Amino acid sequence: MPQWTPSQRELDDLDLISLGAVPVTGFTHPEGEHGLPGLTLTVPTAVAEEAVTAGTLDLLDPEGVPLARLAVAGTYPVDGPEGADAAGPAPSLGQVGLVGPLSALTSTVYGPFRRLVAGPQESAGRVAVPVEAPLSESDIAGIRAASDAGRPLLLVLIGAGYPRGVSAPALVRATLAAAADIPGAEVVAVPLARRRPDGSAADADERLLAAVAAAYAESTHHPSYQGELPVAVAAVVEQNRPPRECRGLVVFFTGLSGSGKSTIARALYDTVLERGDRTVTSLDGDVVRHHLSKGLGFSREDRETNIRRIGWVGAEISRHGGMAICSPIAPFDATRQEVRTMARDAGGGFVLVHVATPLEECERRDRKGLYARARAGEIPDFTGISSPYEAPADADAVVDTTGRTVADCLDEVLAVLIAEGWLTRV
Ligand code: ADX
Repeated sequence: MPQWTPSQRELDDLDLISLGAVPVTGFTHPEGEHGLPGLTLTVPTAVAEEAVTAGTLDLLDPEGVPLARLAVAGTYPVDGPEGADAAGPAPSLGQVGLVGPLSALTSTVYGPFRRLVAGPQESAGRVAVPVEAPLSESDIAGIRAASDAGRPLLLVLIGAGYPRGVSAPALVRATLAAAADIPGAEVVAVPLARRRPDGSAADADERLLAAVAAAYAESTHHPSYQGELPVAVAAVVEQNRPPRECRGLVVFFTGLSGSGKSTIARALYDTVLERGDRTVTSLDGDVVRHHLSKGLGFSREDRETNIRRIGWVGAEISRHGGMAICSPIAPFDATRQEVRTMARDAGGGFVLVHVATPLEECERRDRKGLYARARAGEIPDFTGISSPYEAPADADAVVDTTGRTVADCLDEVLAVLIAEGWLTRV
């Protein structure tokens, strides 16, 4: 039986379908069905071919538990970033969309507040209140007023891309705290996910949300998230998103070999240790390749794997409130974006520093003699010579080290970290 582990957005859609929160029985074409936007599933071509031959595809959760079986009823090509679907990174070329009804193999039984996840029951006499951020005093007053139209059903949107300002479990806690002040209110967690994490499919998201709310209740009331938070809600937010100076953070240096990334990163690391107000871990490019990424080469694929590993570890460090200082070349924009998303999903910050020392200067320095060897054709896929470097357009700081001292470059980075609130001024 062919098997595949879908993206988080796709798993959320699967959950939504299984709960009966949408009027479809499986994954659809991108244009959708029954007035809904598409609930899509894309897989690599090889997986699609196996699924078509077998007629089915078993969908697994990230731990390998089979959740549902898709009966393949159709396929469609996905052609790149503008294609049908994008959860996380844009789908790569050569992906195939699969369409067909789902049958459950096991139901999800874990996950924080899973007991609050439920499909629609009796919708009569109920007002749905979709909740994607902590509710304010005035939202609560608005919901109390709206409860003339029916009993408020607070639908906490916990799927990928929805919770704003706090993690999904914290959004549930904040909503439970708010609900205590709304007579008759009931809280249900709904695994509704945004079509695209950056909100660029807002229209489709709105239509899907309207359909989901309509499945749960007769009418819908939308909070505005404006104004003061009640004390109990504010306490949840404060605990989940402490001020930046004590929140986790990934500082990510990118730049050519010999640009000075490692040197500035090392100086930053030492400074943070000297200050002593944050825990810090260094994930230097060359060092990582000796353990975490040992055995990987410099093909595009291996470099992406290397950066994803660094990003994964960095994001975990940020989840626990620490600072991770990473300094790989990281030549590809898309992979750097993935790391940004990983850190954000872990509740951490992400500061990108482009060490933009020009190639000529890096080559002139050639401390390891690698550029000379690359020019001589002895090292294939060498960044800047025979492999591309995509300069970031989203850097928080751009530092050219040419003719400057380490202390001077470090000051520039520290100034950004202080200005953005990640370090206090000492
Ligand atoms: S990355 O592209 O995957 O981010 P990483 O920072 O880990 O690269 O490793 C770069 C280091 O590996 C360079 O500083 C250099 O010392 C060494 N290196 C060896 N081969 C190459 C190559 N083909 N391209 C770039 N760096 C290389």
